[in-house]
Amino acid sequence: MITMATVSEYIEDNKEQFKNELFDFLNIPSISTDSEYKNNVKDAAYFLINKLESLNMDRVELFETEGNPIVYGELITDESKPTVLVYGHYDVQPPDPIDEWETPPFQPTVRDGDIYARGASDDKGQSYTHLKALEAYQKTDTDFPVNIKFIFEGEEEIGSPSLVPFIKDHKELLECDMVLISDTAMFAEDTPSITYGLRGLAYMQINVQGSNRDLHSGVYGGAVDNPANVLCNIISKLKDDDGIIQIPGFYDDVVELTEEDREAYKKLPFDEEEYKEKLGLEALKGEKGYSTLERTSARPTLDVNGLWSGYQGEGAKTVLPAKAGAKVSMRLVPNQDPKKTAKLFKEYVHSLAPDTVTVTVTEHHGGNPAITDLSFYGLQAAADAFEAVYHKEPFFTREGGSIPIVADFQKVLGAQSILMGFGLNSDAIHSPNEKFALKDFYRGIHTSAKFFELLPSHS
Ligand code: BES
Ligand code: MN
Ligand code: MN
Repeated sequence: MITMATVSEYIEDNKEQFKNELFDFLNIPSISTDSEYKNNVKDAAYFLINKLESLNMDRVELFETEGNPIVYGELITDESKPTVLVYGHYDVQPPDPIDEWETPPFQPTVRDGDIYARGASDDKGQSYTHLKALEAYQKTDTDFPVNIKFIFEGEEEIGSPSLVPFIKDHKELLECDMVLISDTAMFAEDTPSITYGLRGLAYMQINVQGSNRDLHSGVYGGAVDNPANVLCNIISKLKDDDGIIQIPGFYDDVVELTEEDREAYKKLPFDEEEYKEKLGLEALKGEKGYSTLERTSARPTLDVNGLWSGYQGEGAKTVLPAKAGAKVSMRLVPNQDPKKTAKLFKEYVHSLAPDTVTVTVTEHHGGNPAITDLSFYGLQAAADAFEAVYHKEPFFTREGGSIPIVADFQKVLGAQSILMGFGLNSDAIHSPNEKFALKDFYRGIHTSAKFFELLPSHS
């Protein structure tokens, strides 16, 4: 009792310091999608190495990979205690569109109790909570209640290409009883939730090539097929008016929602009117027969993410474009396989392609969907920790985003993941003006500390 008060007092007393450290972390533009930032990404890895080294761990190591480094640290207190592998990512999305930021993305600023910066929520701010929780134990001479291993990667936003082989090659190093991840959102403000399902991803690109150069639309119009028209035609056949994906075989492996699942969804306090209003929309649209929450977390989707062709400048230029292209993402649910889905997509698009143009379909990085077994004991410790800090029992929810490595942790290490998110869907991750509530940064540290305290009694 007394010791825990000390841990939590330490957290209360050091808020300012924690915030300043997080600001230093957020200052580093560790953008993994852009090779120009390679050195900044490295700097972020070393930032974590330095912080781990100050934590009295048994081992801290930076592993070089073909891509960005993997940061590792461990503290083994007692082999008979549970071992928690804490995962996070120190890479961030590009800040684009940069003009829409109210304050610069890599100069963290607090407004109205929120920290604004790229990576504030996804995932620097969220993942840093666990380091500070450990620090609170160390600095107050409180025995750390479990064994802890940290693994941070710098390639999550590009599909974790180096981490997947790394965990296969380091099974023993990463041996654990569970993975703890803070890289998701709470259900709503002051409403904690534990995420037990994540979607997967298959990401495709379609390129259409017509004539060998752009053509005068008066001189050639009518004689040649137009790649922009062809592309639109193909895209229009990917889904029907009811939002049902038309790729043959697409739904074959989808695990359908059970009546029980659907009842649980109905119990969540979701205000659709408010949801629309916040997005500036008059009406929503999704797969027929499913609710908004089901559509955004337990049903697969297909969406154009980028689209280009022809003249985009001011005024009218009469031209038939020689090329057109699109990026298309598909969010996948258990048991859909990204590779198989990509193949089905390719075959279908090729079947729609006329022989007047050349259509090429390529595959970008993807990821597997994941689901945590609801009977896993670690979840109850997480729920109790949330309740102790937020004074509310958390909801168990599924989310629409992807953390591809979660499925690999399950498959390769046999470990379930506890997705203990402190963010909010309104944090604008991947968008301009990303933010993270300071109070959730602090409550996150408290919740993490509490989780470690409670876990042994649940195991
Ligand atoms: N932290 C997100 C995933 C996320 C966001 C899960 C919100 C649940 C709620 C993660 O950093 C992310 O952006 N993942 C990518 C994965 C992709 C690059 C393979 C995604 O979901 O687009
Ligand atoms: Mn993330
Ligand atoms: Mn992300």
